[in-house]
Amino acid sequence: MSQARVLLLFIALLLAASAAQAQRQIEFADYQLPESGALAISVAKGLPDGGAFAELDARLEGALRRAANTAGFSGDRGVVLNLFGIGEFEQLIVIGTGVDPVDARLLEDVGGLVGQLGLLSAAPHLDLAWNIADIPAAGAHLAFGAELGQYTFRRYRSPAPDAPKLGQGSLRILGADPAASRKSWEDDWQHVASGVRFARDLVSEPANVIYPESFVERTREAFRGLDRVSIEVLDQAAMERLGMGSILAVGQGSARPPRLMLVRYRGAADDAEPLAFVGKGITFDTGGISIKGRDNLWRMKYDMSGAAVVTGAVLGLARRGAEVNAIAVAALAENMPSGSAGRPGDVIRTLSGKTYEVISTDAEGRMVLVDAITYVLQQDKPQVLVDIATLTGSQVTAVGDEYGGLFTRDESLATALQQAGMRSGEELWRLPLHPSYAKDLESPIADLRNGGSSGKAGAGVGAFFIGSWVPEGQAWAHLDIASMAWRDDAPLPTVPLGASGFGVRLIDRYVRELAQ
Ligand code: BES
Ligand code: MN
Ligand code: ZN
Repeated sequence: MSQARVLLLFIALLLAASAAQAQRQIEFADYQLPESGALAISVAKGLPDGGAFAELDARLEGALRRAANTAGFSGDRGVVLNLFGIGEFEQLIVIGTGVDPVDARLLEDVGGLVGQLGLLSAAPHLDLAWNIADIPAAGAHLAFGAELGQYTFRRYRSPAPDAPKLGQGSLRILGADPAASRKSWEDDWQHVASGVRFARDLVSEPANVIYPESFVERTREAFRGLDRVSIEVLDQAAMERLGMGSILAVGQGSARPPRLMLVRYRGAADDAEPLAFVGKGITFDTGGISIKGRDNLWRMKYDMSGAAVVTGAVLGLARRGAEVNAIAVAALAENMPSGSAGRPGDVIRTLSGKTYEVISTDAEGRMVLVDAITYVLQQDKPQVLVDIATLTGSQVTAVGDEYGGLFTRDESLATALQQAGMRSGEELWRLPLHPSYAKDLESPIADLRNGGSSGKAGAGVGAFFIGSWVPEGQAWAHLDIASMAWRDDAPLPTVPLGASGFGVRLIDRYVRELAQ
């Protein structure tokens, strides 16, 4: 194909993608309450006098309070009153903020709700007016939330020819000091949002599109042109040479070979020890020979969420130029049953030399992670190591949809990660790593086995297995995000249904707080 044709094809694909991907362009302007158009405002619990709500109600001769009363809307946090054709307004959205003090999370939730509602509106401009003196560059947090809330993945959906054009045009954030908000958005928060988007896109993609090699390709594209980034990729031959028996054992049943990818970002001095984030990257988990059932099996394309999240987080750090040395390690393999697949009972020698007996080929996440962890410890001597994985169904039953599971023996790391969770809105609940789990992992023929014999505390036993490859004295935490990586019941303001990207904001926040 000629270069011009390649370029044309590329532009056509880009247009197709942007047409299918409804998105409002985010803009900033001075605060003023518009007279007409589509407008979103917020109001505290009890619909107090003063502020935008009261001002609009007066202008509308009490119609707004009447509408609120009729709808039973009293400004509770996260509750929305969505009105069409009231007074001169095509659309008037009122977002309740409850009784909580205003913080970045509340701003992001308000933005997220407006972002989501904006997808369902044909108004060419949607204004979000925020006139509460509080956080500097508050508009950047509204924008961050809106960008996360208006995320969709519609790459493979053909647009209906005569469908109304919803969710297009602009989202204008009207607030104090728009220049400061714009700067904070453009220099900082939009990059974190793009890291979340990167992770959500990779997780949403089906496993016939994203497999170890294409995951690496997508990563190379995303990082292209960024300073102070290097990408190392180990293929099967390199893994064999090094003796990575564990990740190889998971990948051996698949026609798509495994990869170990390390994205190193150096935003700080060369001698500053890096932070290493290691992600489970099972691009599809059938369970292997210990095969899973058919129910919801399709969803196991999201078993690479950990890898997507660490890569997206480091992408955000590199794009915003964070002053830190950080490494994303993606342990990529597809877990398939086949004539070449590993079996239960196989004994595996890992990169570290330590051996284990495979009890279940469905406990593959810990298998790929331990080689990835050993490698990054050997190569980079990180000050802190955090692994993140959709590791167990047990984490889902233990904590449900509200928290990721946190396992660590390091008290200060526990505090720092939980605090980052609170502040970012990606919260963690700490679960135990009891020494007795070691008994559960004993094998008569190898150093360990890859699953517990008791069938109890599955998430903790999985964490304990991983921790057995981490030397004492190494700061380490394991995050089990099985319940958080995919959202299926109800959306949150900043988390639409499907791939959540859970962990990108958490890691970003953790790095921010370290810098202070
Ligand atoms: N990817 C799964 C864990 C999972 C289950 C994530 C449900 C999200 C939803 C993991 O590889 C797995 O199969 N874990 C097993 C471990 C067991 C065999 C020790 C599990 O949790 O049952
Ligand atoms: Mn599995
Ligand atoms: Zn898995």
